[in-house]
Amino acid sequence: MLTGWETLTEIGREQGYLHALRVVLSRLFLGVRLRLKRLPNTIESNLQIWSSHDWSEGGEEWSNTPEWKASVVEHVLKPNVPTGSRVLEIGPGAGRWTECLLPRAEHLVVVDVTPVCIEMCKARFKDFGNIDYFINDGRDLSFIPAHSIDRIWSWDVFVHIQSTDIENYVRQFATILAPGGRGVIHHSKSGVSQTGWRSDMTAQKMVDFCQRYGLDVLQQFDSWDNGRVRIWPALPADAGPDIVTIFAKPVQVGRLRRSQIAPAEPQSSGLNADGSTEPSSRGLRPSSAEGLAAVCGPR
Ligand SMILES: C[S@@+](CC[C@H](N)C(=O)[O-])C[C@H]1O[C@@H](n2cnc3c(N)ncnc32)[C@H](O)[C@@H]1O
Repeated sequence: MLTGWETLTEIGREQGYLHALRVVLSRLFLGVRLRLKRLPNTIESNLQIWSSHDWSEGGEEWSNTPEWKASVVEHVLKPNVPTGSRVLEIGPGAGRWTECLLPRAEHLVVVDVTPVCIEMCKARFKDFGNIDYFINDGRDLSFIPAHSIDRIWSWDVFVHIQSTDIENYVRQFATILAPGGRGVIHHSKSGVSQTGWRSDMTAQKMVDFCQRYGLDVLQQFDSWDNGRVRIWPALPADAGPDIVTIFAKPVQVGRLRRSQIAPAEPQSSGLNADGSTEPSSRGLRPSSAEGLAAVCGPR
């Protein structure tokens, strides 16, 4: 195996030293990234990866197509986040979903472990008064008052968080949710897939955690719109590494306990979907109310 210096001089002799330097630097960079990706899904490695991520596409590089994103908003977000809700979003990144939660929320709280993400959101949503920003330690939600949240939303975040840290979050969800409140969490399904740096979380662990802390699981699904759209459109139906869990904090009615809210749109799974993996090129401009309506549709 050649060292960096030997590679530099060998390629340099043959193809020029500037080119050689470029090759060595890009290999070095790739090596560091790969090593990071092989790290366990700790809070520290999340902080490292998302602090150095190139956010120039605003997270839209993870939206399969603009139509796919619109479908998530229409079939998953809107049925589960009614207008006028007090909403918590965990891990907003550059605000890919925040822009659709914000016009619906009476008040939105965004919490992220990565300071640069909160800074991006602050700049992007500076014209909105109904949003509070928090940088946390990747675990703690104790700054959110008990029973003060109607809806919790998190997409493309819990897929990267290890199950012990997820359990800790779920425990706190049970406190901060108002009775009848609901959570929509996208997370890893099988705990084994490394596609997309997924964590050890599973669908069953989420059911167990919810049960342990008194939350009712309403649905788990990996497709919607009668199975026409999937979380991972490019993978075969049974190969997707993720799932969405919707849970509710029950309302106590006398000695009975029920989840007050109407069930969300019926979900199914398994049909083919046709989304490409082309990323959108939309940039990170400050958002206006009119701009958000264009992306997220009518409230
Ligand atoms: C892949 S990005 C997704 C961003 C955004 N949700 C989206 O879909 O575009 C993951 C985000 O989760 C945040 N994150 C990761 N681990 C976290 C944790 N334990 N607590 C809070 N935020 C976390 C990262 O800082 C980053 O903003």
